[in-house]
Amino acid sequence: MDPCLVKFASFFIFICTSLYFISGTLQSTNNIIEEIADYTEDLPPAENVLLATGYRTGSSFFAELFNQNDDVLYLFEPEHNLNFLNPHIQEEWANFVLDLFQCNYTNPKLLQPNKSRIMSTDRSKMLSSHNFCGGDNCSHFNRSKAEALCKSKKRVIKTIKIGRIDILLKEAERRKVDLRVLLYFRDARPVYLSRKKADELGEPTYYLNIARYCSLKLDQFNFYAENQSHHSRLKSVKFEEVAEDPEIEANIIYEYLKWDVPANLHSWIEKNTQTTSGGTFGTSRNSIEKISEWRENIEEEEKFLVDTICKDYLNALNYT
Ligand SMILES: *[C@@H]1O[C@H](CO)[C@@H](O)[C@H](O)[C@H]1NC(C)=O
Ligand SMILES: *[C@@H]1O[C@H](CO)[C@@H](O)[C@H](O)[C@H]1NC(C)=O
Ligand SMILES: *[C@@H]1O[C@H](CO)[C@@H](O)[C@H](O)[C@H]1NC(C)=O
Ligand SMILES: *[C@@H]1O[C@H](CO)[C@@H](O)[C@H](O)[C@H]1NC(C)=O
Ligand SMILES: *[C@@H]1O[C@H](CO)[C@@H](O)[C@H](O)[C@H]1NC(C)=O
Repeated sequence: MDPCLVKFASFFIFICTSLYFISGTLQSTNNIIEEIADYTEDLPPAENVLLATGYRTGSSFFAELFNQNDDVLYLFEPEHNLNFLNPHIQEEWANFVLDLFQCNYTNPKLLQPNKSRIMSTDRSKMLSSHNFCGGDNCSHFNRSKAEALCKSKKRVIKTIKIGRIDILLKEAERRKVDLRVLLYFRDARPVYLSRKKADELGEPTYYLNIARYCSLKLDQFNFYAENQSHHSRLKSVKFEEVAEDPEIEANIIYEYLKWDVPANLHSWIEKNTQTTSGGTFGTSRNSIEKISEWRENIEEEEKFLVDTICKDYLNALNYT
């Protein structure tokens, strides 16, 4: 036997056995492509919006549709100091996020280690245009100042941790926080390539990693698809739709949230999606080619493995 083939076959077996242990959630039965009515309950304009994305999914561009809005206080991935290996992380994460939506900034994990700044301040237009420090030489975080700004704005938080939406919604309900969640999905094949390119993981880990993405995202999608009564709070959004026409997608999402699209957002999109200008986020308008670019960059074996590992996710989201 070709040694390459042996390597490939044993690798495949390794992946399959590993997957078996990762999670019991890769069901084979789901093929939910139904289009379901968006609104079930007539809610007021959104005050608190969670962007539930994932690592290396093109979510920064998506988040800019909110960061560019001057009525919004946007927090970029504030969860970096949380330990996601902790068995109670889902509850901790839900509490952490909801505290932030309630403008309760007492949790020290919100701050950059040894700095009087909120995590990823640079990535938030609103945060970086204010300083929240007090005391000598800006050594203390002026919490009350930050909380006051929070209360005066609508709040949007982007997370790349793929958390349990059911636990989050339940806690939001208990606290009477009017929460909306945009569940953001992307084809697993380009996500795999992007994670591999970032080269932060060892080789076999890429497959385990993408398996985890597909499994957790499928859970989120199933929760959405099978719970129509939550559709006034949950909306699904695809990277591909945003990339294909950010302007139209922004209009759809803003309408869902019952927000007016700010005038500067149109010009921002215009400026940042021109192929020629090489905009910061490198998303070109109407670029079907760009969206399927991954097809030319993925090796046949890689595609086979990701297609196999992520079969149910890809089917459910209608990625062919
Ligand atoms: C703020 O959050 C902390 C940590 O979750 C909690 O202990 C505290 O009671 C909260 N404060 C208010 C005013 O809700
Ligand atoms: C940050 O603070 C902790 C204790 O508060 C200290 O042990 C650590 O050395 C500090 N790190 C840096 C980079 O200053
Ligand atoms: C925090 O900021 C507010 C508003 O700018 C200011 O009045 C207050 O003195 C500051 N507190 C501290 C401890 O610096
Ligand atoms: C503040 O910074 C100045 C200049 O760097 C320094 O002389 C002073 O000691 C600092 N004050 C405190 C309280 O750290
Ligand atoms: C639908 O929502 C209910 C209640 O929140 C939950 O128990 C159930 O697991 C959800 N369905 C899916 C497929 O997640």
